Amino acid sequence: MAIQRPKGTQDHLPDGSPKLGLDTRAAAFQFIRETARRVLERAGAQQIDTPIFEDAEVIKRGVGGSTDIVRKEMFTVYYFGDHGGFILRPEATAGVVRAYLQNGLKQLPAPLKLWLHGPMFRAENVQKGRLRQFHQVDYEVLGSTDPLVDAETISLLVDVVRALGLKQVKVKLGSIGDPEDREAYNAYLRDLFTPHVDRLSDDGRARLERNPMRILDGKAPGDQELIAELGVKPMLAFLGEAARAHFEQVRAHLDAWDVAYDIDPSIVRGLDYYRRTAWELHHEGVGAKSALCGGGRYDGLAQELGSKDPVPGIGWAFGMERLLLAMEADGVVIPESDGPLLYVAALDDSNVGYAATVAMTARQVARTEFAYKAMKPGNVFRDAERRRARFVALIGSDEVEQDTLTVKNLATGQQTTVPTRDLLAFLKGQLALTPTPLENA
Ligand code: HAM
Repeated sequence: MAIQRPKGTQDHLPDGSPKLGLDTRAAAFQFIRETARRVLERAGAQQIDTPIFEDAEVIKRGVGGSTDIVRKEMFTVYYFGDHGGFILRPEATAGVVRAYLQNGLKQLPAPLKLWLHGPMFRAENVQKGRLRQFHQVDYEVLGSTDPLVDAETISLLVDVVRALGLKQVKVKLGSIGDPEDREAYNAYLRDLFTPHVDRLSDDGRARLERNPMRILDGKAPGDQELIAELGVKPMLAFLGEAARAHFEQVRAHLDAWDVAYDIDPSIVRGLDYYRRTAWELHHEGVGAKSALCGGGRYDGLAQELGSKDPVPGIGWAFGMERLLLAMEADGVVIPESDGPLLYVAALDDSNVGYAATVAMTARQVARTEFAYKAMKPGNVFRDAERRRARFVALIGSDEVEQDTLTVKNLATGQQTTVPTRDLLAFLKGQLALTPTPLENA
């Protein structure tokens, strides 16, 4: 068998491909990116792009040494003369904050809203909705601790998923407090779990040592049983005064805007940089365990990356593949991409070059394709239909001599004779009558 793609990766394919799923359709990814761009840029976000690999320190210090990502899931980059000092990015936030610091983006008006889309890499156990290369849309706001920013950030996420047509989504909102609140909570969990350490899984034990809070997020069924048995108090019960007041204000803004959410008192995110507001977006059709989106505030991250001054930040990211599974479950239909407006073909070999010239001129106005070989009329129409063309221009010697084109509308069968010099005006007229998304772009 020919060489296969690596496990946990997917090809994104053109429409018409056999075995096409929504989550492997290139046009579906394009639809998500463009929808997100429209909603986020209307709110003042600008696109940023950062490298797909970063210095290992950015990822290790940014994402945090107690996380599964850093402990077990990093793709290390080796190349000649280097010994693994770089990591394929498992997420975007650490790289964005690194870029903010390195490029002096503090000079820009605050709060600075940034967004990006692109591939992320985690060496996970592969299952449905859990890939090794997946794609995120990521949104970050830097330079403000204002709870109004938290609420706006969550509200924008809801706007994006609604614009994508999702219905059964739920925001689960919590707060993981300030570092001292988290320390108090971790101390409480350490005291609670230590007497039962032998009942914890290996993973649970490692978590108890490094960051007890992460036990709550563990997947081993035995650990979950123990958690239920011990009646563990949630993180929210440990919020200090400042974090609690901040959280109340975030909620008040969301309530005022009618942004629906459920309080999840025990929310534990899988990355170390979070502080205060944290949330996930879940979808009933995709299963409770896997979030479509995760986000939160990360006011200490810039300092972890070596900044002298704190740079408060907050943001979220969703996985496009998971979102597509949810869209499929909600019956969202993403329209087929358009075929060409015009398909040009020559009836004789001597006119193929002329047909190509006509087609290339028509591209000033709309998508146009041409036949690379002379064809009989019946074959031209069959070919044009397969390509989903709207109009066909057949070129024979008469057309070349008279400088005219016979243009046929494939839907109605109507034929129009168009002087060649008027072709662009004719096509513009057709577009104005029935614009298509591609040609309107
Ligand atoms: P995260 O929760 O690790 O957060 O990932 C966000 C989303 O990426 C998940 O909800 C999921 O949809 C998708 N995702 C994660 N891992 C996989 C995978 N292996 N396969 C498919 N999809 C996956 C972050 O990445 C943070 N950087 C979010 C953030 C931005 N927080 C603040 N700013």
